[in-house]
Amino acid sequence: MQPFRGVIGSMEDDVRTLWSAAKAAIEQAGDPDELERVRIEYLGRKGKLAALRRGLGKLPQPDRPVIGRLVNEAIADTEGAFKRKRAALTDAAAEAALEAERIDVTLPGRAPRIGTLHPLTESLHEMVDIFLRLGFAIAEGPEIENYYYSFEALNYPLHHPAMDEQMTFYVSDDVLLRSQTSPMQIRYMQEREPPVRVIVPGRCFRRDTVDATHCHTFYQLEGFMVDEGVTFADLKGTLNAFAKAMYGERISMRFRPDFFPFTEPSAEIALTCIMCEGAGCRVCSATGWLEIGGSGMIDPVVLVNVGYDPEKVSGWAFGMGIDRLAMLRYGITDIRALYGDAPVPGMATADGARSGHRSAS
Ligand code: DAH
Repeated sequence: MQPFRGVIGSMEDDVRTLWSAAKAAIEQAGDPDELERVRIEYLGRKGKLAALRRGLGKLPQPDRPVIGRLVNEAIADTEGAFKRKRAALTDAAAEAALEAERIDVTLPGRAPRIGTLHPLTESLHEMVDIFLRLGFAIAEGPEIENYYYSFEALNYPLHHPAMDEQMTFYVSDDVLLRSQTSPMQIRYMQEREPPVRVIVPGRCFRRDTVDATHCHTFYQLEGFMVDEGVTFADLKGTLNAFAKAMYGERISMRFRPDFFPFTEPSAEIALTCIMCEGAGCRVCSATGWLEIGGSGMIDPVVLVNVGYDPEKVSGWAFGMGIDRLAMLRYGITDIRALYGDAPVPGMATADGARSGHRSAS
C-alpha cells in the first residue's frame, strides 16, 4: 500500500516527473523532426503538460495556486529548453551544410592537361631550325606529283624498280603520290638560277607493308645546294654540323657508297646509334650505326635537266627520314606509334590504363 501523501504531494510529483521527462526528451532529440515530435507530445495543445493545466480544475481549490504555479513554471521552462534546443539543432544543421560545401583552398590545384606538338612536328621544327641557321632556304612541293618530276627528270632509267606500281600509289599513269621529296629538286632549280641552298620537308607515300619500321605515309627532309665549286666535303661538313646540332657533339656520321639515279657518287648516311651510343643494340641490329638517309653529288644529267651548266656549277643533295630521326630523338621503337596505329608501350592511354602491344585477338 502506498503511504498517504495528500493530493498536493502526488500532484506535485506528477508535474515534476513529467517536467523532467519533457526536458530529457528535448535534450535527447537528435534532429529537428524528432524535436518537433517531442514538442507536440509535451507542449502541444493536446500534449501532456497542457493536460496537467486542464487537470488543475479538478484539484481542491486551496491546492490550485501552488500546483498551477508549478505547472506554469514547468511549461515555461520546457518551452525555453525547446527553443534553445531548436536553435542549437538549426545551427548545427546550417554548420553541417556549410561544412559540406567547404572548399579547401589549401589543396594543390589540378593542373590542366596541356597538349604538346606531335613528335614528328617537334623533330621537324628542330631540323628546320638547324638548317635555317646554316643558311638554307625552305620550300615545299606537291604531294601529288607527275611522273616526270618524280623519276624521269631525276635520271631514273626506264623500268627502274622505284617506278614500279608496288612502290607508290598511282592516281593515273602519269600522276602519283610522291614516294620521295627529291622531285622538288627539279621544280625548285627549274625556277631559279644558281646558287641555291634549300631544304624541302614533306610527306611521302609508298606501298610498304606496315610494320614497326615501315608505314605507307612518312616524312622526308630533302636538302640540296648548287653553286660554283661545291664539293662532297661541303656535304659532309654540312650534315656533320646538322647531326651534332641535333643529337650532340658525341654523335659521329658515316658515309658509305650507295646508288641513287640522281647522284654520282652517292652515299648512304648513317649516325652513331643514339640508343646504344655505338655499342650495338637491337635497334641498330648490333652494328652501332643507324642509317638515316641518302646523299651524293647531283648527277650532271639532273643539272642539265633543270637548265644548269654542269661545267660551271656543281652541287650535292641529301634526303633523310624525319620519322626515323624523330623515333631516335624520342626513343620510339615502332613507327606506328607516330601515326596512332600502335600503342606506345608504357605510355598511359586516355582511359588511364597502361598500354602494351596489342594482343592477337
Ligand atoms: N630520295 C631518296 C630516297 O627516298 C633519298 C635521297 C638519296 C635523296 C640521295 C637525295 C639524295 O637527295 O641525293 O630513298
